[in-house]
Amino acid sequence: MNQSLPEVVMPSCPVNKLLEGQKALVTGANSGIGRAVAIGLGHAGADVVVNYVANPEAADAVCQEIERCGSKALAIQADVSNETQVQAMFKLMMETFGTIDVLVNNAGIQRDAPFDELTLKQWQQVIAVNLTGQFLCAREAIREFKRRGVNKAVSCAAGKIICMSSVHEIVPWAGHVNYAASKGGVMLMMKSIAQEVAPYRIRVNSIGPGAIRTPINRPAWETPEAYEKLMELVPYKRIGEPEDIARATVWLASDEADYINGTTLFIDGGMTLYPGFTENG
Ligand code: BGC
Repeated sequence: MNQSLPEVVMPSCPVNKLLEGQKALVTGANSGIGRAVAIGLGHAGADVVVNYVANPEAADAVCQEIERCGSKALAIQADVSNETQVQAMFKLMMETFGTIDVLVNNAGIQRDAPFDELTLKQWQQVIAVNLTGQFLCAREAIREFKRRGVNKAVSCAAGKIICMSSVHEIVPWAGHVNYAASKGGVMLMMKSIAQEVAPYRIRVNSIGPGAIRTPINRPAWETPEAYEKLMELVPYKRIGEPEDIARATVWLASDEADYINGTTLFIDGGMTLYPGFTENG
């Protein structure tokens, strides 16, 4: 039941095109949450840049699924923590799609260790991808949003950024100090950017996933024993699927969510309700 990765490919193409005519870029879009989000945005009518670092075949498969439903897709390899590569990716996107309306800052990694064994390299890798990577991509997107302004034909906002954060932007996580620190950083980076660019009609928000069935946390769900233990942390008593995140991302990027700015939407089956207090405290 719980032991395999989900198939994201959907049998039919949705008719509700909430993001018709918009151009989106999703980082880390060839697996896990990023993959589902890229496909979701594509199915909602956006043309999508599918960013990846390794495994181009997986990125191509995401592009094919997006194109199957009538949107354009372009796979671009770039390490989000590398300024030159990020700028080259945005340049190629501008040349191909003309502009950007939606950035989903999704790429993220974990390099876990007990704190006294955490190496400087593990610390720096996680901060580089999860926090610096989101900064570099957000900066390029904001530059284009400010340059272009609102294009009423596609959206009432001049641009939307969605940062993929985590419940661990507020929930401390022993053994994952670098990861929790990076997500705590994403929270105030997101809010500070949102405060600064709101007058330009640019919306910046985060999504805070809980336990979602992806490769990053495979050990937490792949055996029945691990799954049962994980459920102690999830009042709703099911693991999240990447599509749970994709559906919310489409909505948050759309004009349906136009008055939402500078906030984190937790999608976690209640993980942030501190279930340990249900019969305690
Ligand atoms: C982490 C997962 C973890 C989840 C809930 C996510 O941000 O990447 O590994 O299962 O938070 O703890």
